[in-house]
Amino acid sequence: MQQIAKPRGQFISFEGGEGGGKTTQIKLLAEKLTALGIDVVQTREPGGSEAAEQLRKLLLTGDVAAWSPISEALLFAAGRADHLDKLILPKLAQGTWVLCDRFLDSTRAYQGVAGNVPQELITVIEKYVVAQNLPNRTYILDLDPEIGLGRANARMAEIKASQAHMAEDRFENMQMQFHLDLRQCYLDIAANEPARCSLINAEQSVAEIHADIWADAQQLLNQLAEKA
Ligand code: TYD
Repeated sequence: MQQIAKPRGQFISFEGGEGGGKTTQIKLLAEKLTALGIDVVQTREPGGSEAAEQLRKLLLTGDVAAWSPISEALLFAAGRADHLDKLILPKLAQGTWVLCDRFLDSTRAYQGVAGNVPQELITVIEKYVVAQNLPNRTYILDLDPEIGLGRANARMAEIKASQAHMAEDRFENMQMQFHLDLRQCYLDIAANEPARCSLINAEQSVAEIHADIWADAQQLLNQLAEKA
């Protein structure tokens, strides 16, 4: 009997500044999709593949000024290329949905706008590293950086109190202006790419944020069902 190929999985990224609750929201969406019988993999950037996880350690620990913004952009891109090759593309081809905590918009925002890496370089990197493999959907969790950093700091304090091994997150230690620029960049991305990006108010409760994401994901599921 001939096997009917499963349709390609959907690639969904979650983006935003610090403290928007991306990790929690990815988990909640994964649970909903799994309950519908959809295969889901949760992953993250930087990281997601063995080599990219090694790069993650280099990128996120130590001094804020350890890497220049251009070096960072190249290292994040190297990790992304490996992550796409080893995990994201094979999973999508098997029909698995990939939920990714950060992807190329983080490079646009953190290195591009907030870090002043020239737009031409960011565009060339995207052209060769990501090419056609943009996420089908990107949820941008938007909130006032004062609130986001407050939440992120509270989380750090909890980790420290439990004395777990903690890698200092260099990006959380940057100036407030950096976080304001980041937010503006994400708002611009959402405005410029409305078909891919959905802006979510992350100042709401966890349940309300999830409800907004789930309402949008259901539309995506309906569109896929109509096409099938
Ligand atoms: P992480 O600990 O995963 O934190 P968060 O909860 O904020 O996602 O740290 C990832 C950090 O890496 C985050 O501060 C954003 C930064 N980053 C970039 O600067 N460029 C990138 O391309 C990516 C993927 C992440």
